[in-house]
Amino acid sequence: MAFELACLDHAPGSLIAPVALALSAFAIRDEAPSDIDAREALLDDAFGPARFLKTCQRLRDGSAPAPGLALVATNDDGALIGTVRLWPARAGGRDALLLGPLAVAASSRSLGIGRALIEESLARAVELGHRAVLLVGDAPYYARFGFERRFTERLTMPGPVERARFLGLELVAGALEGVRGRVIPAARPAVDLPRAA
Ligand SMILES: CC(C)(COP(=O)(O)OP(=O)(O)OC[C@H]1O[C@@H](n2cnc3c(N)ncnc32)[C@H](O)[C@@H]1OP(=O)(O)O)[C@@H](O)C(=O)NCCC(=O)NCCS
Repeated sequence: MAFELACLDHAPGSLIAPVALALSAFAIRDEAPSDIDAREALLDDAFGPARFLKTCQRLRDGSAPAPGLALVATNDDGALIGTVRLWPARAGGRDALLLGPLAVAASSRSLGIGRALIEESLARAVELGHRAVLLVGDAPYYARFGFERRFTERLTMPGPVERARFLGLELVAGALEGVRGRVIPAARPAVDLPRAA
């Protein structure tokens, strides 16, 4: 999937007229094994080393992303400038995806790349028959995609999370209705973690 964006700014000396300064294109595609180093460097830049301490990371450890749901964004030069992955999980005994981490290179933000990564991954998740998505992230950002706090009120994670950042989205109406219990990786049993950020 390719996108082309006009980057707008004000003309020098003008207070009102925006002008197109450049065209910036990006593409969304499946992550490849050769993307791993660039992806990890991008995630280090975006989150720092604390990313490895997060409760969500405990759910991802030893797992692989759901098939077809590890995406990258690349720029005109083919450089990796965005990443998102969704992971198979069980939430209160129901199948769900866990979204994250999502990151866009600092030099490429506010161009719609984060939105494109989320919208493409959610569209694919629907096509693949997934029913619900959970994440821990900034509600003011994810609310625009329909993520809501109410779907996770009776769910617990296998470590501490800020409840206000624990969000859910139904891909199929009712998929998270009344759900309660622990979120665990799809392929592994629930384990209480001794400590996590
Ligand atoms: C969050 C992130 C992925 C957004 O990527 P992006 O390509 O800039 O996103 P988009 O272009 O689709 O959207 C940009 C808009 O989201 C807003 N936004 C970005 N991060 C936000 C946040 N944490 N909370 C609320 N709004 C946010 C921007 O202000 C911008 O608003 P505008 O459209 O009114 O100007 C990117 O800022 C990033 O990588 N941040 C660091 C890592 C991170 O926080 N990841 C998400 C985990 S919560």
